[in-house]
Amino acid sequence: MTDDDALDNYNNDWLNQYKGTSKLALRPGNTKDVATILKYCNEKKLAVTPQGGNTGLVGGSVPLFDEVIVSLSRMNKVLDFDEVSGIVVCEAGCVLQDLDNWLADRGHMVPLDLGAKGSCHIGGNVATNAGGLRYLRYGSLHGSVLGMETVLPSGEVLDSMSRLRKDNTGYDVKQLFIGSEGTLGAITKLAISVPRRPLSVNTMFLALKDFDAVCQTYSEARRQLAEVLSAVEFADRPSLDILFSEFPDIHREPFQDKYPFHMLIEVSGSDMNHDREKMDTFLEHCMMEGLIQDGVVAQDTQQSLALWALREDITMALAQAGHVYKYDFSLPLDHFYTIVEEMRERLSKVSIETHTVGYGHVGDSNVHLNICTPGKRGVTPEVMDVIEPFVYDFVRDHAGSISAEHGLGQMKPDKIFHTKSHTSVDIMKQIKTVFDPNGIMNPYKHVSYHTELAKEVS
Ligand code: FAD
Ligand code: MLT
Ligand code: ZN
Repeated sequence: MTDDDALDNYNNDWLNQYKGTSKLALRPGNTKDVATILKYCNEKKLAVTPQGGNTGLVGGSVPLFDEVIVSLSRMNKVLDFDEVSGIVVCEAGCVLQDLDNWLADRGHMVPLDLGAKGSCHIGGNVATNAGGLRYLRYGSLHGSVLGMETVLPSGEVLDSMSRLRKDNTGYDVKQLFIGSEGTLGAITKLAISVPRRPLSVNTMFLALKDFDAVCQTYSEARRQLAEVLSAVEFADRPSLDILFSEFPDIHREPFQDKYPFHMLIEVSGSDMNHDREKMDTFLEHCMMEGLIQDGVVAQDTQQSLALWALREDITMALAQAGHVYKYDFSLPLDHFYTIVEEMRERLSKVSIETHTVGYGHVGDSNVHLNICTPGKRGVTPEVMDVIEPFVYDFVRDHAGSISAEHGLGQMKPDKIFHTKSHTSVDIMKQIKTVFDPNGIMNPYKHVSYHTELAKEVS
């Protein structure tokens, strides 16, 4: 594709905050085509940006300048499925939701779910090591991805398409591509371990008085719901306020009163009566102990989806409301929400309207701190100066991670030293050089940012 209008979607990121000026997007149809493209670019030292569904939130999927965009969107076939062992083999460009629907017809599911499921690719999910809404239950893609085919910048195909659950023969090289954000090569095929779809799913949305109660309820959920617990999500009052004001026709307050904190807890298993009984006992206990103020339990799939949407649609509401300063931190639970409170306090002194909201995957200690300046587009320096470097320093000082699940992209590669040592980054740089000696893969981002290689490519 060379047409400017068509290229617009490929050059702009989901948040509309990063814009490249690529003049060329290629949509290869198979691994051989990807290999031919990368080999050619490597020989000519042309920079390449691999792109999946372009839903990334750190500007990793769009070029900075005129890098050649290689979109995997045509490589979207499911290739094989072993129903007994529960292993699916597919191309990297499968849209997450399509793959999940395909598996649902066969009684299985992708062990990953996130708000962007309708557009993001499974290859993009692996390239970002996406976490999402059920990480608590199904764990990291580092565990679920059993095999991978990648094309190296040289054009060589690295076939690690194992379907083995256990394989301790040397270094597990494919793991390096999980979370590599397109800086080592292009992921073209995957073999993924996919669990059975639970036969019974129950969703509840709870109202709480303070963050202490959130932590205690989470702890109680782990104790009482144990093996059937599949999600513990969190959203504060300002997150829901933005949601209701941006989407008044779709979303409304689920409770009679307004509460400062909310949790979505999902329970899934194989026996509806058993799971329901556990959930009812848990709810009764939390009510009696004064941990929760109110609660709604979904009575059917439709209601469950509506409750989930209260959590998942916050991202979209923020993006629609104005400019979003988006942060994605791992922090111990005792500091999970203090960062939001301190940020709100600091921003109360700036001259323009700001909304500081906190939501995220409380079950994974992963907080999404977002600051929205309604009606604005672009960064306001006065606001930015209050946010950074404060937030990154806070995360470093409390032993967190500056990127829990979204990656580094072009937003924060320079912040890596806040939570990674120089020794660690040195090793990453050496790994980058081994795979991509000419530095053509996604330069200026992630670890590429720290190598000298990017200066050589055009
Ligand atoms: P892209 O955005 O296209 O690319 C992301 C990065 O991966 C880029 O660096 C790109 O170069 C690289 N890449 C893509 N495909 C390949 C490939 N085949 N080979 C090599 N490199 C590749 N993330 C979470 O972790 N958890 C969430 O809950 C979550 N929720 C989200 C909700 C919304 C509404 C949105 C918009 C985003 C959300 N995200 C979430 C961000 C998340 O990173 C992505 O949605 C997803 O994992 C990216 O997949 P993608 O196919 O869109 O990749
Ligand atoms: C989420 O958990 O909703 C996503 O990671 C997206 C976001 O951070 O807004
Ligand atoms: Zn998230």
